[in-house]
Amino acid sequence: MKTMAAAASSLGLAACNAPAEESQRWFARARKVLAGGISSSARATVTGPWPYPLYMTRGQGSHIWDADGHEFIDYLLSYGAAILGHAHPELLAAVNAQLQRGTMFGTCNTVEVELAEQICRMVPGVELVRFANSGSEAICGAIRAARGYTGKTRVLKFEGHYHGWVDALAVSNRPTVAEAGPLDAPISQPHSRGIPSGVIQDVLIAPFNDRPRLERILQRHGGELAAIILEPVVANNACLAPEAGYLAWLRDECTRRGIILIFDEIVTGFRLARGGAAEAFGLIPDLAIFSKALGGGFAISAFGGKQAIMQLVAANRVKHGGTYNGNPLCAAAALCTLRQLERPGVLETIHQHGRTCMEALRRAMHDRGIPCAVQGNGAMFQVVFSRDGRPLRHYRDLWDVDVKRYAAFRHALLQTGVHVNASPTACWFISASHSSDDVAVTVEAIESATQAIG
Ligand SMILES: Cc1ncc(COP(=O)(O)O)c(C=O)c1O
Repeated sequence: MKTMAAAASSLGLAACNAPAEESQRWFARARKVLAGGISSSARATVTGPWPYPLYMTRGQGSHIWDADGHEFIDYLLSYGAAILGHAHPELLAAVNAQLQRGTMFGTCNTVEVELAEQICRMVPGVELVRFANSGSEAICGAIRAARGYTGKTRVLKFEGHYHGWVDALAVSNRPTVAEAGPLDAPISQPHSRGIPSGVIQDVLIAPFNDRPRLERILQRHGGELAAIILEPVVANNACLAPEAGYLAWLRDECTRRGIILIFDEIVTGFRLARGGAAEAFGLIPDLAIFSKALGGGFAISAFGGKQAIMQLVAANRVKHGGTYNGNPLCAAAALCTLRQLERPGVLETIHQHGRTCMEALRRAMHDRGIPCAVQGNGAMFQVVFSRDGRPLRHYRDLWDVDVKRYAAFRHALLQTGVHVNASPTACWFISASHSSDDVAVTVEAIESATQAIG
């Protein structure tokens, strides 16, 4: 195994101190033709001290290889999408079989029906679904359905929660201290240039995990709201969790006030539990959105939920379209992925391996007196270098997180052959391909990387 630094040798891994020269070359080439050299803003990463991202050329199981031939155990996993691991044999077989039969007809197909049945069976409260291709697209469908059903336009989202790049909800994703406004009345801040002010006015912002403040906002604006949308576990805020009883209270408030409750399960779906957050928390939202783990690495998403709301989509009174929706290739990949995840022990092992890594992070940091909170639930988690090691409660707690320390830690991990999310506010993910051996190597890597930053 060729890894990035000499530290790897103590783990029994071959060593390579050199920067990733091939990645550097590819990035230089990319910048001439791809805006910023990247295809998504989230990929504007650096590699430790080197100002370019790594270019991955191959993946097998839980391992990936970059253009320089460095091998990593992968905990980014395409932001959680590759839940079975890379090039999983049964997923390849399912996709290959479909490839031979044709990839897309632009007509109804049998695989999308089987997949919809599978989702409705696995996820509590999902009675009807529609497919799309990315999380952002499915978010648009759910928001339109909620607006169509209630006849209202305003939507409430929580500060820091991420629901894709489209105008409808790209609001207050990462406001700075100067932009965010008072905690009692957070300002709706566009996440980007180019979002019309009318769209921003339709999005209200509240702090997560704060009942009194949300209650006050609802007293003033509850009657204007079509929906409240949230990440039930906030993957994009370093995996922070809802406080005990918070989601149940939110469910009751939405029911009482006639507001559609939408769970953005794009990360949590089929990962937190087989039935996602709805199963894990025992709560049924009105609508939910799925992607990432759903497709096992193929581009597919879905929105769905209560019959009464989705009936408007069924009746074409809420329009939803898309050339690639429910195409048999991606549907076959998703069907295979969900069937694998349903097998006894698969998700349990994913969670168990994650808990072992989380425990190693806590132990290593504690032993060296490094304040941090390790947040998550096994299948998805993050180590947050918060000022005094306090767990995060809401987005604003991220403002004083030591991001430099996380960058140093990630770089030290890369050097020992462990690839994790470059963002300190995102998560590490475990796949069904991660083995006990991978986890044992990772535990050692965590030890040595912690030593390097301690
Ligand atoms: C919680 C959540 N919602 C929505 C999205 C948007 O999904 P996509 O990038 O597929 O458009 C993401 C993507 O990371 C996400 O994490």
